[in-house]
Order: sequence, then structure tokens, then C-alpha cells
Amino acid sequence: MTLAAASQAGGGGDDPAAGPCRHLAIIMDGNGRWAKSRRLPRIAGHREGVEAVRRVVEAAPGLGLEVLTLYAFSSENWKRPADEVTDLMGLLRHYVSHEIDNLHRNNVCLDFIGDWRSLKPDLVALLDAARVRTAGNTGLKLVMALNYGGQGEIVRAARALAAKAAAGTLDPDGITAEMVEAHLDTAGLPPPDAVLRTSGELRLSNFLLWQVAYAEFLVTDTLWPDFDGAALANALAEFSRRERRFGGR
Ligand code: IPE
Ligand code: IPE
Ligand code: MG
Repeated sequence: MTLAAASQAGGGGDDPAAGPCRHLAIIMDGNGRWAKSRRLPRIAGHREGVEAVRRVVEAAPGLGLEVLTLYAFSSENWKRPADEVTDLMGLLRHYVSHEIDNLHRNNVCLDFIGDWRSLKPDLVALLDAARVRTAGNTGLKLVMALNYGGQGEIVRAARALAAKAAAGTLDPDGITAEMVEAHLDTAGLPPPDAVLRTSGELRLSNFLLWQVAYAEFLVTDTLWPDFDGAALANALAEFSRRERRFGGR
């Protein structure tokens, strides 16, 4: 369902039922199609996608978001042609190195999920420095999913728990959902209240599989490079009209 259709179908009216959206997770999709429609190379779409990231990060705190998680590179995106992967890593390097002063000034706390520590050593050093520098900031928590896959994340958590069980420090029968959560990359973060995907695709593509158990889906046909603060406000307005039940009635 598109945002417009969903907002007609959803109830709520003046009495928002969903509560605040504290944590929004975004699958930033459509950069390639944006470029293709302009007969530009895909890198041009990715470059404009970085501009959309800037706009959304700027708008997010004013719209009440506490945590913004952005799917920037999936563990499956290595299947893309090598030159596109190189372009994406270059843009990531450029974004973090050019934006870090601004993010820090704006009290943003930057962090990463996924197997980002196995990226190129110089990039890992840059990301780690940005993370450490902004760790004490109390404003927006900006989480970038890099070399991230939800299945891989759950596998890593299972391995960590299994290692403790094998060492005799954990009783397998005592493993709880909270303990699994504590071993995910997102440990300590509230689960996403909503997942937004741009470009009209209706799939998760291995994003936050555990964490989105009760997240609301928001889908817009807007391509990521065209996304901005107004589009974000529209999506959050749609969220506020949803009735969340969590299995209750
Ligand atoms: C999203 O845009 C960026 C990444 C996945 C890194 P795409 O590159 O997937 O764009 P489309 O889906 O081909 O339009
Ligand atoms: C999901 O988008 C990954 C990111 C946004 C980083 P894709 O464009 O890679 O997903 P699929 O391949 O269309 O499912
Ligand atoms: Mg895509």
C-alpha cells in the first residue's frame, strides 16, 4: 500500500493511536532508478542519495525521532559490480569525513551496525574515530547499517550464545529473547517503531529481521534521492494514524 492509500485506510483521525515514533529505520532504495531515469550513471544516483541522507538527518530531531537507522550497504550488496561497490565505499568515506564536524556540532551520536569492522582498514579507522568522537552526544542517535544483514547478525548472536553455553557459563534452557537481543548489533537500542522503504519495493531485503517484529511498514514510491524532510514528515504522519496492537486487542 502506498503512503497515500494507507493514510486513507488507516483510522485514528484526531486521536493518534500509535504513540511517538522514537526509532525509524529506513531502507534507502531507488538510487539506481533515479539515475537511470535521467540517463546518468548509477554513481550519480548514489551521490544524490547522500544529499537525501543529509536532509533527513537534519530534519529528524525536529520530527521527534530519537534513533534513525539507515540501511546503507547490505551484506548482499557485494554482489554488485566491483566499480559500483568502490563508488559506494568512496561515498561513505566522503560522507563521514566531510560531515563528522557538522554531526558533532549538532549533538548527533553516530554508530554502526553490521560487519563494518571487516571493511577496508582505513575506512574502519575513520568510522571508529567518528563513533568514538560522538559517543557522548545526547541528540539524535544515527545508526548506519554497513555490510549489514539480519540473518548474519542473528548467526553471530547465536555463535556468541553457543560459545558461552559450550564454556559452561550459560544454560541453553535459560536463553531468553532478551538475551538474544543483548547479543545483536542493536543491543541497547529501542526496536524500530517503523520501517520505511523508498522506491515502492515491498520487501525487507535482510534488514533488521529480529528487530522489526512489531514495526509498522511505511512504503513510499519516492526514490531515495528525491526524499527530504517533507517526505519524512509525511511518513511520520502516516505512522501516527496507525493502530498498534502488539498481539493485544
Ligand atoms: C539504494 O539504491 C542504494 C544501495 C542499495 C546501496 P539502489 O542502488 O538499490 O537503487 P535501485 O534499486 O537499483 O534503483
Ligand atoms: C537494500 O536495497 C539494501 C540497501 C538499501 C542498502 P537493495 O536494492 O540492495 O535490495 P534488493 O536487492 O532490491 O532486495
Ligand atoms: Mg535497490
